[in-house]
Amino acid sequence: MASVEGTARKHEGNVVLVLDFGSQYTHLITRRIRGLSIVSFCLPANASFESIKALNPSVIILSGGPHSVHEEGAPTVPEGFFDYTQEQKIAVLGICYGLQLIVKVLGGEVKPAASQEYGRMRIKTTKSSRLFGELAEPTEQVVWMSHGDEAVKLPEGFSVVASSTQGNVAAIENIASNVYGLQYHPEVTHSERGIEMLRHFLLEVGGITADWKLQDVLTEQVELVRSMVGPDDYAICALSGGVDSTVAATIVHRAIGDRLFCCFVDNGLMRYKEQERVMETFNKDLHLPVTCMDATEQFLGKLKGVSDPEKKRKIIGAEFIAVFDEFSTKLEKELGKRPAFLVQGTLYPDVIESCPPPGSGKSHSHTIKSHHNVGGLPAEMKLKLVEPLKWLFKDEVRKLGELLEVPSHFLKRHPFPGPGLAVRVMGDVTQDNALDTLRLADEIFINCIKEAGLYDEIWQAFAVYLPVKTVGVQGDKRTHSHAIALRAITSQDGMTADWYHFDSKFLAEVSSKICNSVRGINRVVYDITSKPPATVEWE
Ligand code: XMP
Repeated sequence: MASVEGTARKHEGNVVLVLDFGSQYTHLITRRIRGLSIVSFCLPANASFESIKALNPSVIILSGGPHSVHEEGAPTVPEGFFDYTQEQKIAVLGICYGLQLIVKVLGGEVKPAASQEYGRMRIKTTKSSRLFGELAEPTEQVVWMSHGDEAVKLPEGFSVVASSTQGNVAAIENIASNVYGLQYHPEVTHSERGIEMLRHFLLEVGGITADWKLQDVLTEQVELVRSMVGPDDYAICALSGGVDSTVAATIVHRAIGDRLFCCFVDNGLMRYKEQERVMETFNKDLHLPVTCMDATEQFLGKLKGVSDPEKKRKIIGAEFIAVFDEFSTKLEKELGKRPAFLVQGTLYPDVIESCPPPGSGKSHSHTIKSHHNVGGLPAEMKLKLVEPLKWLFKDEVRKLGELLEVPSHFLKRHPFPGPGLAVRVMGDVTQDNALDTLRLADEIFINCIKEAGLYDEIWQAFAVYLPVKTVGVQGDKRTHSHAIALRAITSQDGMTADWYHFDSKFLAEVSSKICNSVRGINRVVYDITSKPPATVEWE
């Protein structure tokens, strides 16, 4: 991650490193810190000591995690970690597991708590401490706790600066060695003064200056891409119509102009009028050089008769690579030189590996998510990767998109799976005009959601084509037609989700619109399952 280290160097003296011990909130800590205009990166807890030092951080936060410090093989800091932080005058803050780790490593004692603390709790701060500063008043505050172990004996030089109302250690400090700990989660909004606490710690205790702006990322990335690609090489980019690839391509276009060539593959599995709509945004709003490759027949020909979802995904992945290869071969002929770079909209959560949960039998390298990518590009294409969003979170990419004047309706689009409608038509996509039927039903559903002003509060919504026929009565005739299922969810990141609670009048209207205007549909059902136990898509 050369670009991360480069950015860290530019912001020397103001970099916060979060070491990830596997808490579900680790990314949130990094995002909150960036939200305070401070440069922050995340590394897995077992990252090499060299990679930690290479970022030259001024503050290190040890995250929470699902382990117990006394478990065999529980993740820990590298040998000599606290000598290094003290020598370099780095302020250390342990959060939850991080606090317990500090206590254990520096010679204190941590035990399973007599009374576990989960959820909202009250803590009492001592009158004066460096850790709380002015935030020690008023002395009581509500925080979010989630722990089963507690620190029962502190290492030498540490003192308790807040306790829970149950009497457990809630915060500790050792001013001389610049090491601090919070048993609660300041990054979670349920902790009343959590964000103020983080700001106070980083600015007052850690001596950080908060002067980082997203505009800096843009400037840095444009420069970086320009120097990577050099003055006479070419880059290619496959646009999916989604936010990430669009923003990545727009940045690269700023950097190297018409030496970037994008292609948009219409695989016949797109939503209603998708090709026209995204091509219009690319051309009119973003002035991106995009070739539209209409490969509908090629894809649907290969998918004919295929019902197994995994087979569908594989076929789509392989076809996509074939079309993309054809695109670069064509370019090579035109340019007299094969493009050497491939632009991808990889995001930070795809890059940072999370610490796996205890007992999972997994090591860090197993946890990188891959199954959602539609086939990687083959190594023999030998393209060097350009990933200008590699250290950004989704919400930051949207903000960057705004800076780049990507239209806001485009930035707010719901996610759409790479294999497209193939995972929304149950079974063979080429049967019974399933794709066109689904496109119309989906368009009606999405339009109703937009008209009701609900689009932005729903994380993802879509229709699904069911392979079953059910009996109905339309006009005076009995019918035997297909059913459509509707899915709408709320979620933070798609990992867990709840179904959206529409009011019944809304659902009745959508159902009647679909049955009255989409041929071949006589029944509409609504999916009321959360994830887990279901997933978001149906196939
Ligand atoms: P699931 O159904 O896995 O969906 O809970 C979570 C998110 O991922 C999207 N999704 C996919 N995206 N290829 C993709 O590119 C896939 O095969 C795929 N399956 C699901 C889904 O739309 C949701 O946003």
